[in-house]
Amino acid sequence: MPPIPDSASVETQIRAFAADLRAAASPRDAQTIRDKYLGRKNSIVASWMQSIASAPPDQKKKIGQAANDLKQAIEALWADYQASAAAEAPSAGAVDVTLPGRMPPLGHRHPLTIVRERMEAIFTRMGFAIVEGPEIEDEWHCFDALNMPADHPARDMQDTLYLATPVKGETGRPDDFRTMLRTHTSSIQIRYMQAHQPPIRIVAPGRVYRRDDLDLTHTPMFSQMEGLVVGPAVSLADLKGTLVAFARDMFSATSRVRFRPSFFPYTEPSAEVDISCWQCDGTGCAMCKQSGWLEVGGCGMVHPAVFEAVGYDAERDTGFAFGIGIERVAILRHQVQDIRLFFENDLRFLEQFPY
Ligand code: DAH
Repeated sequence: MPPIPDSASVETQIRAFAADLRAAASPRDAQTIRDKYLGRKNSIVASWMQSIASAPPDQKKKIGQAANDLKQAIEALWADYQASAAAEAPSAGAVDVTLPGRMPPLGHRHPLTIVRERMEAIFTRMGFAIVEGPEIEDEWHCFDALNMPADHPARDMQDTLYLATPVKGETGRPDDFRTMLRTHTSSIQIRYMQAHQPPIRIVAPGRVYRRDDLDLTHTPMFSQMEGLVVGPAVSLADLKGTLVAFARDMFSATSRVRFRPSFFPYTEPSAEVDISCWQCDGTGCAMCKQSGWLEVGGCGMVHPAVFEAVGYDAERDTGFAFGIGIERVAILRHQVQDIRLFFENDLRFLEQFPY
């Protein structure tokens, strides 16, 4: 005959249940513990209930009372346990505030913007103002005023993207000029001189368009930075000094500049601008194809015909101009193998310029 449960045994069982539950390793574990005390079969409460049948009549009520007390106490503890377990466990879709935070990816400027702003900063420090002009241009600003006559090869349909609907030129001249996407930023020189008198010291960055097929070094859209300085006795030495200062700031403190004689209708004399290879300092390497020099643009002394086109006095005014390829500078500065990378927007490329 098992001992007859009394209020002391109720207390003992409650304490045992609470201790077991605290030690439960998992919700499933806890369920097993609860069933051990409260389950329909073979549990402590069930066995106490069963013992009523065989108990002496004067004990039946006391056993029933004890079994009931234990049942209620365990049910209460179990309800508490479940409530706190539910509060602790993250429900599906809920935010788990204990997880470490995930940084949203930080955006940054495009490499060409970074290089353009760096170039702007260098020229601003030298006293240049930054100006802009329209990307849709008329032939007069882009060609005629720049001393490029009607039969100039650059005006060919093969090279220039003309707009289907000609818009009347803004020159006020009676003859109408075709409109086009500007092929170079040199058109901004003309617009600026039409609106301002010397002295002038400007750089004009912008996109330009040409009918080129895509390859390693060509895209139908690219960017240039035009420079124009007009004043009394502006010399070729001033031009070279300006470009040397730019190269030393942009590339290397030991950069040198070389002028290669060239031809542009709007400058005389004209030159291609090479900078000494900053990688090998001019001794020859893979980047400069062993030549020691890297080409960055064109330049020259403003042609008198250009001054005349904008109504300046070609006897009085002197000036120099240059045009630098922004992609070209970016390619050389950051050793980019393919110009197309700048326009494909592949984050694996763009993320390498996080400044
Ligand atoms: N416009 C020329 C080009 O598109 C670059 C250039 C050459 C600009 C000489 C100039 C210059 O201002 O003087 O390639």
